[in-house]
Amino acid sequence: MVLTSAGGLFISIEGPDGSGKTTQARMLQEKLEKRGRRVLLTREPGGTSIGEEVRGILLNPLFCEMTVPCEIFLYGAARAQLVSQVIRPSLEKGTIVISDRFIDSSIAYQGYAGGEDPEMIHTLNLWATAGLLPGKTFLLDLPVEKGLERLQSKPGEYAGGDRIERKNEHFHRRVRAGFLQLAKQDPQRIFLVNAEKPPEKVHEQIWGQVRDLL
Ligand code: TYD
Repeated sequence: MVLTSAGGLFISIEGPDGSGKTTQARMLQEKLEKRGRRVLLTREPGGTSIGEEVRGILLNPLFCEMTVPCEIFLYGAARAQLVSQVIRPSLEKGTIVISDRFIDSSIAYQGYAGGEDPEMIHTLNLWATAGLLPGKTFLLDLPVEKGLERLQSKPGEYAGGDRIERKNEHFHRRVRAGFLQLAKQDPQRIFLVNAEKPPEKVHEQIWGQVRDLL
């Protein structure tokens, strides 16, 4: 069931660094609001006061000694708080929730790229979210070099990139491969989007799907 009983819809936007998720999340929000829908846009890690504090720890390049299990729990902790404080109550009111990243990011980054068991991360996170998964996920896919190139020109929170963005190209290749693997495993939920195209074209691919769901 993609729509909640109150008419809410939970959408996540996923993809490697530099894939344009944030732009697409905003474009989708704008389109839906123009059509009179109530929309909540949130991001991970973050979206709550607690989550934003945890984000600061996770992305600070000073903490280069952080282990992958530590990352898993911190991303999961921020997510648990976001789901119970913001996402679930919004869905229950019939709001459309768009999340810039969700569980699939933990499986791709900490699992496929970070070397921890993807299944275990999936299970742990389903516990943290009390079973909540998005009704629809858009995976913005593009070659790793293109994504990293885009990052260079983007003014980020940290000069030189955040702690995760600074990881080497092999890491980012595993992230992309991990996401593609997830899309293969769950084609019902995860819709693959060609993110190399201009933002308007990418938006059209996403909108075509969302329009059909509503
Ligand atoms: P991101 O959305 O890319 O932030 P920004 O667009 O502001 O740079 O997310 C921050 C980083 O966190 C990104 O490199 C991916 C990483 N990440 C994980 O490794 N695991 C997770 O579970 C999540 C949600 C993000």
